[in-house]
Amino acid sequence: MSRTVAIPYGLPMERDAGPFDPPQQITRLRESRPVSPMIFPDGHEGWLVTGYDAVRRLMADTRFSSRQDIGILHVPYETPGMPVATEPSPQVPGLFIAMDPPDHTRLRRTLTGAFTVKRMKQLEDHIIDVAERQLDEMARLTPPVDLVEEFALPVPSLVICELLGVPYADRENFQVNSAKFLVKEQPLDEKMGAYIALTTYLSELVTRKRAAPGDDILSDLARDDDLTIEELTGAAFLLLLAGHETTANMLALGTFALLENPEQLAELRADPDLLPDAVEELLRYLSVADIFYRYATEDIELGGETIRKGSTVVVSLLAANRDPQRFDNPDTLDIRRKARGHLSLGHGVHLCLGQQLARVEMRAGFEGLLRRFPTLELAVPAGDVKLRTDMNIYGVHELPVTWTETAR
Ligand code: HEM
Repeated sequence: MSRTVAIPYGLPMERDAGPFDPPQQITRLRESRPVSPMIFPDGHEGWLVTGYDAVRRLMADTRFSSRQDIGILHVPYETPGMPVATEPSPQVPGLFIAMDPPDHTRLRRTLTGAFTVKRMKQLEDHIIDVAERQLDEMARLTPPVDLVEEFALPVPSLVICELLGVPYADRENFQVNSAKFLVKEQPLDEKMGAYIALTTYLSELVTRKRAAPGDDILSDLARDDDLTIEELTGAAFLLLLAGHETTANMLALGTFALLENPEQLAELRADPDLLPDAVEELLRYLSVADIFYRYATEDIELGGETIRKGSTVVVSLLAANRDPQRFDNPDTLDIRRKARGHLSLGHGVHLCLGQQLARVEMRAGFEGLLRRFPTLELAVPAGDVKLRTDMNIYGVHELPVTWTETAR
C-alpha cells in the first residue's frame, strides 16, 4: 500500500507523460491504491479517487455531497488565501452544480426541458450554421491563425450566448472574467473580483429579462416566480461558464490530438460516419474537465477503504477514463472504440446538463473543420503548443494552425 500523498500546492495536474496523458503520479496512484488518502495544502486530510470503478460509484452516491464542489471553479483548495473548509460550504443561490438533492433537483428540473436530446436535435442545423459561418471567416484569413481564437472559442460562445439570451457583444466581460476564474492559483481576491464583475453583469441581465422576457432560456427561467434574482444569476453564471470553456477546449485540444494522430485523422476524414464515436473517444481520451470535489456526509466504504464522515474527496475523471481495468489500451486514441461509459461528462445526479449540446457542437465543429480545411496542420512544433496546465479546464491556450487549400 502506498502512503498518504501530500499535495504541495494544488493537485499533481501537470500532464507530464505527454500533452494528452494523465500526470505520472496520478497513474501510479491508480495502479497502487485507486482510493488513496491525501493531505491538502491547508493540512487537512482527505481522499483522492482515481480508479474507474470507484469514481463511478462515488459519483452515483449522493451520500457524497457536492456542497464543496464549486465544480469547475475549484475555489476551496487551489486558491491561495482560501480558509480551511471542513464542512459543507454555504450554498451559492442558483449554483446547482454545488448542491445536493432536493435543492439540486428543484433547480435542475427547471432546466432539463431546455437541454433534452430532442431540443438539441432541433437546434442541430442552426449549430451547423454557426460553425460554418465561423469557418467561412477563418477561410478568409491568411494562415497561420490561432484556432482557439478563430474557431474553437467563438463557436460554443456564440451558441451558448444565443441560447441563454446573453448579448455576444458583451463577451469581453464574461470571457476575460471567466478565464480569470479558471486560473488555478489566482489569488482569492482576484477570483472574487472576477466573480463579482460577472455576477453583477448577469444579475442586471436577468433583472431586465424578468421585466421583459424574450425568447431564450434565461427569459424562460425568469418567468418562473419561484426563482429569486440571486438564483437566476447563479444559474446563468453556471450555464455561461460551463457552456463555453469546456466545449471550446474540447474542440481545440481535440484538433491537436487528431493532428498528432494522422492515421486516425485520415480515417475520420475518409468516413465522417465515424464522427459520433470519435467524439466520445476524444471526450474520454482528453477529459478536459478532470478534477471534482465531494464531501462524505457519513462513513462510506469505497474501493475497500473507509472514508470517514466529513472527509473531502477529490476525483480524477482523467485517471478513471484511462483505467486499463475498464478500457483496453487506454492511453491510445482509437476513434473506432466504443468509448461510451467514459466519465468525462460526469455520472449520477450531476451528469452534465449540457451533454447533448456539447456533442452536437463537437460533431458540427469537427466535421466542418476537417471538410473545409483538408490540409490543416500545426504551424509550430507540437512541443511549442501552450498547454493549459495552469487552468481548471485543460486544453490549449493557443493552437497555431496553417493550411494550403480550403474546400466547401
Ligand atoms: C456538469 C463536463 C459541456 C453545463 C458537468 C459535469 C462534468 C461536465 C464532468 C459534472 C460535474 C459534477 O459532477 O460535479 C462537461 C464537458 C463538456 C461540458 C467535458 C464539454 C465537452 C457543457 C455545456 C453546458 C454544460 C455545453 C451548457 C449548458 C453543465 C451544467 C452542469 C454540468 C449546468 C451541472 C449539472 C448538475 O449539477 O446537475 N459537466 N460539460 N456543460 N455541465 Fe457540463
